[in-house]
Amino acid sequence: MRYIGNKTKLLPFIEESFLEYYDDLTELSLCDLFAGTCTVASHFKPKFKTVIANDLEDYSKVLADNYVALPGPPAGYEAEINRLNALAPKTGALSLAFTPEGTSGRMFFTTENGRKIQAIREEIESLKQNRNMYNFLLCSLLESADTFSNTTGVYGAYLKKFGQRSRQLFELKPYTPTTGHGFSLQEDATEVVKILQGDILYLDPPYNNRQYGSNYHVLNCIVNYDSFKIKRVKKKIGGQNTLSESQTGLTTEMNRSDFSIKKKAKDALRKLIKNAAGFDTIFMSYNDEGILSMEEVKQIFSSHGDYAVRTRVHKRYKSNNAGDQRKETKEHIHVLTRKGKNKVESILDNYPNRVFKRKKLVDPIAAPVVQWVGGKRQLIDRYMRHIPEKIENYYEPFMGGAALFFKLQSLNRISGASYLSDMNRELVLTCNMVISHHKEVSDLLNKINEKHSKELYYELRNIDRKEVGTKRYVKTGDIFDLLTDVEIAARFLYLNKTCFNSIYRVNKDNLFNVPIGTSLKKDFGDNGRLHEAGKVFIDASVSAEDYRTTISAAKKGDFVYLDPPYEPVDKKGTGTITLGGKSFTSYTVDGFSTADQITLKNQCDQLNKRGVKFALSNSDAAVILKLYENYNIYKFDANRNLNSKKENRKKAAIEVLITNYSSPQIPESE
Ligand SMILES: C[S@@+](CC[C@H](N)C(=O)[O-])C[C@H]1O[C@@H](n2cnc3c(N)ncnc32)[C@H](O)[C@@H]1O
Repeated sequence: MRYIGNKTKLLPFIEESFLEYYDDLTELSLCDLFAGTCTVASHFKPKFKTVIANDLEDYSKVLADNYVALPGPPAGYEAEINRLNALAPKTGALSLAFTPEGTSGRMFFTTENGRKIQAIREEIESLKQNRNMYNFLLCSLLESADTFSNTTGVYGAYLKKFGQRSRQLFELKPYTPTTGHGFSLQEDATEVVKILQGDILYLDPPYNNRQYGSNYHVLNCIVNYDSFKIKRVKKKIGGQNTLSESQTGLTTEMNRSDFSIKKKAKDALRKLIKNAAGFDTIFMSYNDEGILSMEEVKQIFSSHGDYAVRTRVHKRYKSNNAGDQRKETKEHIHVLTRKGKNKVESILDNYPNRVFKRKKLVDPIAAPVVQWVGGKRQLIDRYMRHIPEKIENYYEPFMGGAALFFKLQSLNRISGASYLSDMNRELVLTCNMVISHHKEVSDLLNKINEKHSKELYYELRNIDRKEVGTKRYVKTGDIFDLLTDVEIAARFLYLNKTCFNSIYRVNKDNLFNVPIGTSLKKDFGDNGRLHEAGKVFIDASVSAEDYRTTISAAKKGDFVYLDPPYEPVDKKGTGTITLGGKSFTSYTVDGFSTADQITLKNQCDQLNKRGVKFALSNSDAAVILKLYENYNIYKFDANRNLNSKKENRKKAAIEVLITNYSSPQIPESE
């Protein structure tokens, strides 16, 4: 079949590339994740032990059902082909949509050929009980129809006059599958690859902005001959806007692939490669005219293992909308071979065991998993007098270590669901991994604990950057690309436990830049603590999102606790608002300015109007006291251990808790 990106001519190059990495293919499995015409899957089916073909499009599934899933043509197919060829032509939805006999006068097929296709398609449906025959004949119909179409190869347009090929009388020809063993799938590649496991993953994603759904819609209509709907689009006729059918008969339901969208292609590939952990080797065809540059592909591949690229010059696919007149393109095959081990495990190999012994394990208790600057553990008990006694749904954006949530759960105070969130993606992922994969995270954290040293701390901290001068770094990758989710969580917990004062601070490139803490003797190995902590999250969801999104769902009777970055205390402040206060408040790369405090106050007003109870912690900055003057303000003296200079640490720090409801018990004076 003529198809954008069809790999027929490149099969020898692809095979040669496979053979450079594997001596023998016969015992291996191959997954062709963007199968299109199934040229690749079908060519390799006899050469591999098993092959899977997957694609989003309906027509591609039909091709895969025949070429890949069938071990050979069904018995008696010749007679069926003859019988179908002898059917009388028939008018129907297909012939009306795609031939001149319809009101739109489209010229994808001659009327006569369109009617033959219609008749054969309807008859094939009656054979559905005989699945193999059905798949074989439907695939043969698609392939045959394509050879009679009045196009240059894609259905984005038809030619103004019927050309030589399309004027021939339609004949159904058999298209037989190769021998061998295979499966067909029709799923989104990025999602389905999560659950697949095998030897070779072959990727041939769309490389330009032409969506397959709209370039091959006619083939999809042949598959769905009795249920497709032509889209209606706005057109100007006689100066008036009117709704009429799309000129080329595009349908109402069409897939859109992120790989064909410039803004989304890079993220799509990044996600795909990350999800493809079930494969040892990945080969990806991509040419030099693609949306993604060589450098971008290289960067994504290299963060998951060893990267190599092979290149061939290939004759260009001609199409009439190409402004580029080059006759050749460079076809690349990017190769990723995964290292036997994950990145953190490989680093651990280089570090000797720690000199001191593990402490005796203590009984696990459910305590927050991370220590968070500004964390409320010391204040929580005093807070409790001001927290509603009965909470249905609980909301805690700015969750950090989520100390109040842990406390409320331990007292069984939440009867409904809990919604926690934070803008720190690593924190949120860590929390979710503790909930779902505590064992794996715990095992890795214990291994790190055994080898903790200053060198290891910096090696793991600097895994996403390279040093370009004394203590000057440039970012070399994103943690979310470089590490597995388990590794991200274990690294996060490790850095949190061993960095200076458990501070979380990132620089403008979002690189965590806190130095190691002073004591090397800390034992942070896990003894079941993570498991216990994970259990606390029953009926809770933890998301990486803006606080406004989280609290927007809170309704009357719910309780919201807000612990935002604090407004810096300006001792001379009068409550007049000066924007952009600077202090130790950059918990995320975005920071939180005085303007953000004002927005937050407006959000609290809205909660109040909706009858939602809220409690908010902050500093006693004049601005804050002024902003919330109409609410209840309780003052606490807290020693927040934030200052890095020892002599400043013990100074009193006043914090406030602001609420919009009466406290369950009369507060003692602080
Ligand atoms: C370059 S073509 C593949 C060509 C194929 N190797 C061949 O030889 O015919 C890309 C294919 O990816 C499919 N596709 C695009 N996005 C997809 C996705 N998210 N999941 C699965 N398939 C997708 C398209 O439908 C198209 O068939």
